[in-house]
Amino acid sequence: MRSRVQVLHGVNLDMLGRREGEHYGTLTLMEVELAVKRFAGELGLVEPFFFQTNHEGEYCEALHSAGEMADALIVNPGAWTHYSWAIRDALALAGVPAVEVHLSTVSQREQWRRLSVVRDLCVGTVEGKGVEGYREGLALLKAELER
Ligand code: DQA
Repeated sequence: MRSRVQVLHGVNLDMLGRREGEHYGTLTLMEVELAVKRFAGELGLVEPFFFQTNHEGEYCEALHSAGEMADALIVNPGAWTHYSWAIRDALALAGVPAVEVHLSTVSQREQWRRLSVVRDLCVGTVEGKGVEGYREGLALLKAELER
């Protein structure tokens, strides 16, 4: 089965490549997206499509329309993960399965990163695997869609 997966990158993820390499690796966002396209091809998923914003309301609006455009979502809301109840509410009405992916190991960094307000709405969470985490996220979604 071929499914449309939207990958929603949140705040500051456009700065990948310039951010702390020990947490986020050295790839730029464009390079991450190329890798995600490759992973999707290997898994036999249709080309994923991408969105990034540094504006919380825009991220919410993308989630509002996500269900019409995608069969499943990968969300990495960046720092919003830890406190944006608005993004949580918007994800709750997306109506399609989502996986939360973080490049870094959020559960073992500062205390404030340990809370994710979207986690329980997601069918899975992948953290600390860098860009490979997106491969795992896609595989989780594929399995979910085939259930
Ligand atoms: C992140 C982790 C967040 O805590 C951080 O604010 C980010 C990126 C990650 O992918 O590891 O911007 O979501």
